[in-house]
Amino acid sequence: MENKEEFYEIIKEILEHEEFQKRKQFPHHGEETVYDHSMKVAYLSYKMAKKLKLDVKSATIGALLHDFYTTPWQTAPKVKRIRDMHGFMHPKIAYQNAKYYFPHLMNSKIEDIITKHMFPLTLKIPKYRESWIITTADKIASLSVFKKPKDLPKYIGIRGKKKVKK
Ligand SMILES: [Fe+2]
Ligand SMILES: [Fe+2]
Repeated sequence: MENKEEFYEIIKEILEHEEFQKRKQFPHHGEETVYDHSMKVAYLSYKMAKKLKLDVKSATIGALLHDFYTTPWQTAPKVKRIRDMHGFMHPKIAYQNAKYYFPHLMNSKIEDIITKHMFPLTLKIPKYRESWIITTADKIASLSVFKKPKDLPKYIGIRGKKKVKK
């Protein structure tokens, strides 16, 4: 059985961290913030990992930090090469950032979860079952805010930029 107390116990340290709190100001898709989105993916992943009797702690932490990149993607300068676009770059950046702020929480499973969550966009195949959970949960959580298929490019971060309050 899932329970919210256990969920919050796993993510408490990250949630209370000042750097993670900044994600309340990062727009994600539509009106949703990166904070809201990350919480949604984390809880969905927590429940799925629990149900499948997997590594619940790594799945939940990896999910919460899967979009822990450094700056709102809407403010990033334009890039010429497709592989430099947000959709391709942010998993690596998110992992570097997660390792910087929470080195004691990292493990190879969490690294795999964060760096491969955009599969199949980022070609490397997720190695762990927990990684598959997060890449699925991310798509479910993201697509639920998109009402129309034409909004799909926003998921991969190539369209729909909007101004960010500074
Ligand atoms: Fe992402
Ligand atoms: Fe995401």
